[in-house]
Amino acid sequence: MSVKNRQRVASCIEDIGTDINQVSQNFYRHLLQDNPALSRIFSGNTAALNRKFFNMLAALKNVKHLEKIEVSIHQLGERHGQRYAVLSEHFAPTKKALMTALEGHLGDGFTAELRQAWDEVFDEVADLMKAAISRTRHADTDESSPSLTGYDGDLLQAIGGEDVVLRIHRRFYDAIFDEPWLGKFFRGKHETTLARKQTEFMVAALGGENRYRGDTPAFVHMHMLITQEQLEAREVILRNAICEEGLSEEIVERWIKVDRGFWSGLVKASEEECILKCFGQYPVVAKKPDGYVSPSSPPSVANDD
Ligand code: HEM
Ligand code: HEM
Repeated sequence: MSVKNRQRVASCIEDIGTDINQVSQNFYRHLLQDNPALSRIFSGNTAALNRKFFNMLAALKNVKHLEKIEVSIHQLGERHGQRYAVLSEHFAPTKKALMTALEGHLGDGFTAELRQAWDEVFDEVADLMKAAISRTRHADTDESSPSLTGYDGDLLQAIGGEDVVLRIHRRFYDAIFDEPWLGKFFRGKHETTLARKQTEFMVAALGGENRYRGDTPAFVHMHMLITQEQLEAREVILRNAICEEGLSEEIVERWIKVDRGFWSGLVKASEEECILKCFGQYPVVAKKPDGYVSPSSPPSVANDD
C-alpha cells in the first residue's frame, strides 16, 4: 500500500514514453502465446491492441491516490466484466505477461525494488477490479460482437482519414463552446488543443493508430457531473458536425455508435457520484440555464426518417 511504489510505477510508465508500442507488442506476444484463448478478448489489429495496452498503463499511472479513485476503479472492473468479458482469472496471466514485457524493455533497470512496486500496484488495482467483476453479470464471450467495446476498426478509412476527423472536431467544439449549457464545462479551456486531443483519441477508436496520450474518458470526466440529457444534447451537436462535413448517414450512425460506447463510463445521476482525484479539485456541475432549448438537427437530417 505504499504511495512510494505507486510513484515508482507512474515514473516508470512516463519513462517508457515513445517505446510503449514496442513494450505492448512484447506483452501481447507473451500473453497470447501462453493463453491463446485470450485473443478473443484482446481482439483487433495492432493499433487496437496497442491502444488497449496503453489504456491499462494510463490507469495504473493514475493510482497515486488510489483510495480517492476507488469508486472509479470499481466501475472500471464492472466494465471489464460486463462489456469486455473479462474474468477474475485473466488478471494473473495479464500480470505475468506485463512483467515479462517490462523486464525485456528495462533489462537491468528492472530492479528488485521496481519489480516489487509493479507487483504491488498491479495487485492493488486488480483486486479492486476483480471484486467488482465477481459481482457483475458477465458479457457473453460467445457473442462475437465488436460493439461491446464501442470501437469500430474500419471506420477511419470510410470517413476519409484523420484530417476529416479533425475538421469535424473543429466544427464540433466551435458549436459546443457556444452552446448555453454544455459550453459551461469548457470555460477557460483551449478549443484547438481539445479538438486535437479529441481527434487523436477518436482516430484510435475509429481504427487508426493510437497517438492519444491522455487518460481514458472515464478518468478525464470523473469529477464532472455529466447527465444523460447532456450526453444527448452533445450527440446532436456531434451529428450535425459530421453531417456538415458531408459524410453519409451510414457513417454518422457508425460514428455515433462508437461514441455511445464511452457513455457508460461518464454518465452520472448526481453530484455525489463525482470522483475527486486530488485535494483542491471540485466537482464540475453545470446548471441548466433558464429557458434552455436543447440543440436540434438541421431539417434535412431530422426529416431523413
Ligand atoms: C490492473 C489491470 C487492468 C487495468 C488497470 C485495466 C485498465 C483498462 C482501461 C482503463 C481500459 C479502457 C476502457 C475503460 O475505461 O473502460 C481497458 C480496456 C480494456 N481492457 Fe483492461 N485493464 C486491466 C486488466 C485487464 C485484463 C486482465 C483484461 C483481459 C484479459 C483486460 C482487457 C481489456 C479489454 C478487452 C478492454 C477493451 C476496451 C478496448 O477495446 O479498448 N484488461 N482496460
Ligand atoms: C456531455 C458530455 C461531455 C462533456 C460535458 C465533456 C467535457 C469535457 C471537458 C470539459 C474536457 C476538458 C477536460 C480538461 O481539459 O480538463 C473534456 C476532454 C475530453 N473529452 Fe469530454 N466531455 C463529454 C463527453 C465526452 C465523450 C462521450 C467522450 C468520448 C468519446 C469524451 C472524450 C474526451 C477526451 C478524449 C478529452 C480530452 C482529454 C485530454 O485532455 O487528454 N468526452 N471533455
